[in-house]
Amino acid sequence: PVTVFANPQLASIQVAARIADLIRRKQQRNEPAVLGLATGATPVQVYAELVRLHQQEGLSFRNVVTFNLDEYYPMLPTAPQSYVTFMHEHLFDHIDIEPENIHIPDGTLAPEDVADYCLRYEQQIGQAGGLDLQLLGIGRTGHVGFNEPGSAPNSGTRLVTLDDLTRRDASRDFGGKESVPRKAITMGIGTIFKARELVLLAWSGKKASIVKKAVEGEVSGEVPATYLQLAPNVEFVLDEAAAAELT
Ligand code: F6R
Repeated sequence: PVTVFANPQLASIQVAARIADLIRRKQQRNEPAVLGLATGATPVQVYAELVRLHQQEGLSFRNVVTFNLDEYYPMLPTAPQSYVTFMHEHLFDHIDIEPENIHIPDGTLAPEDVADYCLRYEQQIGQAGGLDLQLLGIGRTGHVGFNEPGSAPNSGTRLVTLDDLTRRDASRDFGGKESVPRKAITMGIGTIFKARELVLLAWSGKKASIVKKAVEGEVSGEVPATYLQLAPNVEFVLDEAAAAELT
């Protein structure tokens, strides 16, 4: 289903409330809540609202286990552009999550260690009980995570090559496209599909044409987000501008 909100802030508050509900339900049963998280501009207000719920409404993250979708490769965790830095700035430094419950793909691995590491990442998700809810953004190439055009529907966590458009879109954060890493480690489409709930967020007119393709286009590896049409429990959460081209 598609849900359209008047603006990103209202949408983000609703999504954060849904996540908080999941966390509290799991707390009552003494179970971990396993969240798949995204970075980028889109989920920033969701994280801000989760921080507010923690600080002002007593929402605890002690039972929360997180797995981030992706990280640039190579990337030092301490670099300002790393997704480790992003997650700490926007969420983890402001809540009571246990540091050992945080998982973000490691951008510092030696090339020969990447394949084993990616398998382990999949296993860790499984051992945690599987993803209860996966938050997603969408790139203008149609990527979810960094599953660029050509990604297979059964793909797992792996090293991928970033699309030129993705690197251009990231160039502002890096002070030029040439400084954007050429690769990333990302959960696969198959990994994402195993999540019990998927929530894809998209805001602004810049996303309107890719959102139309993702929601209404033919399912194809050329636009990996179209695979989500086949997922049993996906919600596309949009603002009016991102939904503008939907029929
Ligand atoms: C980030 C990720 C990407 C972004 C997408 C949109 O972890 O997996 O798929 O969600 O590139 O980025 P923004 O939100 O910056 O437009």
